[in-house]
Amino acid sequence: MEVKTSLLDNMIGVGDMVLLEPLSEDSFLDNLRDRFDHNEIYTYIGSVVISMNPYRSLPIFTPDKVEEYRNRNFYELSPHIYALADEAYRSLRDQDKDQCILITGESGAGKTEASKLVMSYVAAVCGKGQEVNKVKEQLLQSNPVLEAFGNAKTVRNDNSSRFGKYMDIEFDFKGDPLGGVISNYLLEKSRVVKQPRGERNFHIFYQLLSGASEDTLKKLKLDRDFSKYNYLSLDSAAVNGLDDAANFRTVRNAMQIVGFMEDEVQSVLELVAAVLKLGNIEFKPESRCNGTDESRIKDKNDLKEMCELLGIEQSVLERAFSYRTVEAKLEKVSTTLNVAQAYYARDALAKNLYSRLFSWLVTRINESIKAQTKTRHKVMGVLDIYGFEIFEDNSFEQFIINYCNEKLQQIFIELTLREEQEEYVREGIEWTNIEYFNNAIICDLIENHQNGILAMLDEECLRPGTVTDETFLDKLNTICAEHQHFESRLSKNSKFLTDHSLPHSCFRIQHYAGKVLYRTEGFVDKNNDLLYRDLSQAMYKATHSLIKQLFPEGNPAKVNLKRPPTAGFQFKASVGTLMKNLQTKNPNYIRCVKPNDKKAPHIFTDSLVRHQVRYLGLMENVRVRRAGYAFRQAYEPCLERYKMLCKRTWPHWRGPAREGVEVLMADLQVPVEEYSYGRSKIFIRNPRTLFFLEERRKQCLEELATLIQKIYRGWKCRSHFLLLKESQIVVAAWYRRYAQQKKYKQIKSATTVVQSYARGWQARKLLRELKYQKRCEEAVTTIAAFWHGTQARRELRRLKEEARRKHAVAVIWAYWKGLKVRREYRKFFRANAGKKIYNFTIQRIMQKYFLGLKSSTPSMSPIDRKWPSRPYLFLDGAHTELRRIFHLWRCKKYRSQFTEEKKAVYEEKLEASEIFKDKKTLYPSSVSQPFKGDYLEISKNPKYQKLHSAVDEKVLLADVVNKINRANGKGTPRIFLLTKKSVVLADQKTGQVKASVPLPDLSSVSVSTQSDGFFALKLKEGSASATKGDFLLSSEHLIEIITKLHRTGATAADQEQLSVDISDEFLVQFKQDKVCVKFIQAALKNGNSVSCKRKNNRLLEVSVPITA
Ligand SMILES: Nc1ncnc2c1ncn2[C@@H]1O[C@H](COP(=O)(O)OP(=O)(O)O)[C@@H](O)[C@H]1O
Ligand SMILES: [Mg+2]
Repeated sequence: MEVKTSLLDNMIGVGDMVLLEPLSEDSFLDNLRDRFDHNEIYTYIGSVVISMNPYRSLPIFTPDKVEEYRNRNFYELSPHIYALADEAYRSLRDQDKDQCILITGESGAGKTEASKLVMSYVAAVCGKGQEVNKVKEQLLQSNPVLEAFGNAKTVRNDNSSRFGKYMDIEFDFKGDPLGGVISNYLLEKSRVVKQPRGERNFHIFYQLLSGASEDTLKKLKLDRDFSKYNYLSLDSAAVNGLDDAANFRTVRNAMQIVGFMEDEVQSVLELVAAVLKLGNIEFKPESRCNGTDESRIKDKNDLKEMCELLGIEQSVLERAFSYRTVEAKLEKVSTTLNVAQAYYARDALAKNLYSRLFSWLVTRINESIKAQTKTRHKVMGVLDIYGFEIFEDNSFEQFIINYCNEKLQQIFIELTLREEQEEYVREGIEWTNIEYFNNAIICDLIENHQNGILAMLDEECLRPGTVTDETFLDKLNTICAEHQHFESRLSKNSKFLTDHSLPHSCFRIQHYAGKVLYRTEGFVDKNNDLLYRDLSQAMYKATHSLIKQLFPEGNPAKVNLKRPPTAGFQFKASVGTLMKNLQTKNPNYIRCVKPNDKKAPHIFTDSLVRHQVRYLGLMENVRVRRAGYAFRQAYEPCLERYKMLCKRTWPHWRGPAREGVEVLMADLQVPVEEYSYGRSKIFIRNPRTLFFLEERRKQCLEELATLIQKIYRGWKCRSHFLLLKESQIVVAAWYRRYAQQKKYKQIKSATTVVQSYARGWQARKLLRELKYQKRCEEAVTTIAAFWHGTQARRELRRLKEEARRKHAVAVIWAYWKGLKVRREYRKFFRANAGKKIYNFTIQRIMQKYFLGLKSSTPSMSPIDRKWPSRPYLFLDGAHTELRRIFHLWRCKKYRSQFTEEKKAVYEEKLEASEIFKDKKTLYPSSVSQPFKGDYLEISKNPKYQKLHSAVDEKVLLADVVNKINRANGKGTPRIFLLTKKSVVLADQKTGQVKASVPLPDLSSVSVSTQSDGFFALKLKEGSASATKGDFLLSSEHLIEIITKLHRTGATAADQEQLSVDISDEFLVQFKQDKVCVKFIQAALKNGNSVSCKRKNNRLLEVSVPITA
């Protein structure tokens, strides 16, 4: 539900001055102060907004506030500039009415800020989109540019606008901004060359010098030091809270956004620099021969630099500063300028240069921001113009400004009354004439074509002959003397003759807002605003395009001999256009008031505000507004607001709102003359009546509030009580449950404790009983044990005693028996007892001997020779016999372990022993060597495969032997094979059979007694093999070879046994010859080896090492 509010809610003082009761200047001021102290800086006079400058930022310009005021009725919320902006924008958009917003007030009152607030509000609420945003941005960014060039620090305002500005913002039918047009009025150009104390030149000069880069400054031939420039006042060059350098960047950025080209910006800065340079040009007097003074430029450096900047020929400008050419119809007259005139010319040039630059900037901005489309558009104009100025010293400028304000006041009155009248007609209410002060008469005094002050000033300026400010005042004195609002000491009207507050050189005008005293000094000059033609022509000759553009009148082709229009004339004309423009629009007023002169927050200076209230004509304003009816309100909101005051309309009125209001008014007995019924609104004549209604409403609201409060409290308490009750039951239930549970748990645990104690007690009792029982049992057992023990011991003692007795009896009996026997058998004993004792003793000794021998028998090895020594001599024979038997038995045991093969080996060994034992020294060393037989492993070795296959019998022995050569006694290795049938000799390397001798062909074998391995195989004479002769061989296995040969011979049945001859000299039959082999023992040089040498044809000598 939308909250219905009204301006009348929560008012501090009154939000609308129209409602002020009683209306007086004091109450007006009190209301303003009261509201200002409560941060309410805005107050209405009907639809006019009074704005007090807070001099601090208030939190009332946020986006939230914008939303709050958006699309709300003007009187719905507390006064705000946004309400006015919204009203204006909506009637522009929805009712197709062009609007203008007129912002007036004295310098520093907040006009420029107000205009920015209006623009920003409109920008925030109007359409959105890329194109629209760009337009908005350009419109908003035009401000910083114009402020830089047109604003300056003054004693009243650090950012005072020194020009009047009117900006038309154009919208399409949807209310989207399309573009704008800016008009500027009367820039205060005198500031360029001179600033009052405590004030500065235009911002741009300071911004340029502090913010531009070194590079830019160099290009512009400038120095960062302010003190180098005559035109810059130094005492307030730096302003608190103003960052010139940062602002310079902002301005450059804004220029870019608005659409200035880079070279345009450069040209503008060049012109600014040129103005600074111009200020530094100084003149000195030089007497001429004709006695007149002429001026010369002191130092030409600045002139030179300026000329370079602007592309002007130095000599041309120099001349323009020294001469003045006056052109009449056909002739030209040149006169020299004195120093004062030269300075005047210089300053005039500087002022013109700057003000024309400023106008050019406005034109250039307009080019950028003007609407692109040609379609019809709606316009909202914002006028930010200097307000009424009353200084101690008022001059031409103040005169012009105040004239403008008179005009504004006039259209204000006109439009307000017209609007008022129109509303009355619209609402069908009778119009009664209103008494008010109309300032048309003052405007007439100033602007009348024939005898207006401006017209007379122009007349004076154009008049030939000497014209001074005095002649001008004289003229005024004669012509305006009769006027009610004109006052002068010398006027015909003698009433001011003695008025000392009015000096002779001044005149005074009673403006609608107060009397202002104007000093006529400078009026003529300023109105003329003369720039010598030589200078404008010099400027036109410049190569700098912008300069050329600014001085079109300098074009020699277009020499216009007519004087240019005066400043006053121009201003009057532009004000006239402005007024016409404003008259076609729906006006909205913002009247700015400055609370103090200190630019400080929270200070409200009564006298200052009173002064402003007066000259702004605010009281007039209220009076005009209240002339007819002070308050009006549409029927619906009125009924809605006051319906509670009458029983018939409360709480709901079903009929039309107007009837409801009629019923209401009748019921409240409001006097009939106090109100009128319009078509859609009720008009209330006096604020008193409204306040009566408001008061009643307030009371009624309080009663209603009490009622509502009562019912609400009752309801709240009851529902609270019910809730409490319900909760109490729940809580109680829970608590009881909990208490019972707790109690139950307590009892349960108590029971458990009691139970455990009882059980414990019972258990302990039982335990005690059991222990007692056990102890009793143990005691019984112990006693019984002891008793049995005692019994047993007693019995034992008794038995022992009995046994001892029995033994004693037996001993005694034996002794006695022995005695008896001995007595009886004494004769027999003597005959046999000796023999028996001897046998018994022998038997015992033998027994002991055998048992001892059993435990000390030697090992089972047959070669063990140990045998225990004999203990008794008489056992000698038996002992030796036992030894022999034991040996035989263990040999038998040993033999019985033998296998057949082992037996064969031992048989061979045995045979070897039979042959060689004690006969050949070599033998003992062979005993421990086992007879291996096949040393060459002939069957397995692949090398002897062929040889093996050549021998068909089983090989009994295979070995390498040396065949002794008869010729030198040296040996050749030969393979020696022995089979059952033959002996084979083969080549060791090739395995080729060299000789094969069947065993039967062997007659004997000869060996020596020595420890050598020589042996000779002798063949039977006449046998087949004998032809080859005997073999003399030597082998390391001699014993084995011979034994095997001998055995083979022994086993074969058909052969007789091979005889073995053992001697140290034997004969060997080598083919034909018999050779004797002789063995000798010798100490050999080459160790222990045996050597064989041929001694002669018949003798081979074998040397054998000497055996020990
Ligand atoms: N609504 C406002 N809120 C805060 N400060 C303000 C407001 N209006 C004006 N001011 C202050 O007052 C100074 C002067 O305002 P300005 O609009 O430049 O005055 P004018 O244009 O009337 O000469 C501003 O620089 C600002 O400091
Ligand atoms: Mg301003």
